[in-house]
Amino acid sequence: MSGRRFLVTGGSQGIGAAIVQAARSDGAEVVFTGRNEELLDRVTAETGAHGLQADVSVAEDNARTVEVCRERMGGIDVLVNNAGYGYMAEIGQIDMEAMKTMFNTNVFGMVDLTNRVVPVMKAQGAGDIVNIASTSGMKGHANGTAYSASKWAVRGLSQCWQAELRPHDIRVICVCPSEVQTAWGGKVGRNNPNKLYASDIADAILSAISAERRALWPEFAVFATNPWKEG
Ligand SMILES: NC(=O)c1ccc[n+]([C@@H]2O[C@H](COP(=O)([O-])OP(=O)(O)OC[C@H]3O[C@@H](n4cnc5c(N)ncnc54)[C@H](OP(=O)(O)O)[C@@H]3O)[C@@H](O)[C@H]2O)c1
Repeated sequence: MSGRRFLVTGGSQGIGAAIVQAARSDGAEVVFTGRNEELLDRVTAETGAHGLQADVSVAEDNARTVEVCRERMGGIDVLVNNAGYGYMAEIGQIDMEAMKTMFNTNVFGMVDLTNRVVPVMKAQGAGDIVNIASTSGMKGHANGTAYSASKWAVRGLSQCWQAELRPHDIRVICVCPSEVQTAWGGKVGRNNPNKLYASDIADAILSAISAERRALWPEFAVFATNPWKEG
């Protein structure tokens, strides 16, 4: 990854922070975003990456994010669209405002930021875009109407971007993690060695983008081998 320029959204904790860490350890330059200043500062101090307070659901923040990448790194080689969260509710009890607000981050924010990054990558003549979907976007489940639909949308738009961007030597890789032991959904304190850690997803992503540029992994899921086993 030496010398490659990363932009990671939602890099202040969880999977995003693990990607920031892995990319920095491999010699990449990294700008990452998030909203919580304290978390941003912590990852900045730990990795030497540049943390930027920016909300992916806000257009002005996305414009500023791309500008900061241009100023600090001169471009973007790898965009990791990771920022996202879950709003869970059963049909019959869905708060439409909450579902739309979640789509503003998980889907529309991702599209808005990528819409601004793609011209940069086209001008460079290459780039990698990694979209974090979920196994919830591969199989529906109870309470998943809003979240599963948002991740299904991520898988769908990833296929559209592949069709549009492969002729520009831009790879679009869609990653569907199963359960990962992060603070996602307010769950804290999980530490079962048989379940996935954020670093497992980061390792998989770095493998995909380390492949020869002629090789594209369009989509892959990452499951724990035996998550039912007690720690
Ligand atoms: N954990 C899982 O089991 C799992 C499984 C499949 C897929 N995923 C997906 O993986 C991605 C990362 O999840 P995670 O497990 O690492 O969750 P996490 O620990 O809650 O971290 C989410 C990150 O996204 C940032 N974020 C959220 N909304 C944002 C916004 N509007 N603008 C900018 N940053 C924002 C958060 O920072 P701030 O709050 O400071 O903004 C945080 O850094 C998500 O897209 C999630 O849906 C997770």
